[in-house]
Amino acid sequence: MFFSEQEKEALYKVIYNRRDIRTFLADPIPADVILKILHAAHHGPSVGFMQPWNFILVTGEATKARLAWAADKERRALAIHYEDQRKEQFLSLKVEGIQQAPLTICVTSDPTRGGSHVLGRNSIPETDLLSTACAIQNMWLAACVEGLALGWVSFYKKNDVRDILDIPPHIDPVALLSVGYTDKYPSKPLLETANWEKRRELQELIYHEHWGSEN
Ligand SMILES: Cc1cc2nc3c(=O)[nH]c(=O)nc-3n(C[C@H](O)[C@H](O)[C@H](O)COP(=O)(O)O)c2cc1C
Repeated sequence: MFFSEQEKEALYKVIYNRRDIRTFLADPIPADVILKILHAAHHGPSVGFMQPWNFILVTGEATKARLAWAADKERRALAIHYEDQRKEQFLSLKVEGIQQAPLTICVTSDPTRGGSHVLGRNSIPETDLLSTACAIQNMWLAACVEGLALGWVSFYKKNDVRDILDIPPHIDPVALLSVGYTDKYPSKPLLETANWEKRRELQELIYHEHWGSEN
């Protein structure tokens, strides 16, 4: 397969510019655009081609309010992991935009899909979740090129989300994705701007031949 220089540049451009977004406009998303990003997700790789994902599209205000409640409850509970200034900083971070975004997509993973002997999953069972994460990343990149903002929310108790969305106990609600248009698409990760974390030096993460060996 051959890609032109322009196509290559476009791919790297979307990889470098994709951001996690938590501030949304109320503008509705055309149905065909939603379908495009779901198709992108569905073309992600998966262990043994098991395609363990489902996508629950939530636009109802009452349901979004319940999901936002579950996320906020968890955010407040997680504050116990921090003390003093770091705790204040944590509590000041905006970690979700569920109610603001016109659409929330709950992406689930079904560990039973494909039966008990999915090729390649016998050795590392969590490869079903890894596959679902690949689908989400595809969707995130597709959303970015469609001019859509997407925010990954993982602050919630899975059983709260199962209860709210009637998800059976064996299905894993992997992510709540807030999707919509935004007028604030930053060039840097929000956590970097908030001085919470910064991008590590790639060179320090590359080892040669052995763990820990820089050359
Ligand atoms: C598995 C996963 C879970 C995440 N959960 C949350 C979350 O609950 N709340 C949040 O604000 N951001 C969440 N994020 C977004 C990250 O904070 C964000 O990707 C990171 O800060 C880097 O910023 P960028 O995505 O804009 O490059 C999550 C990202 C991933 C991959």
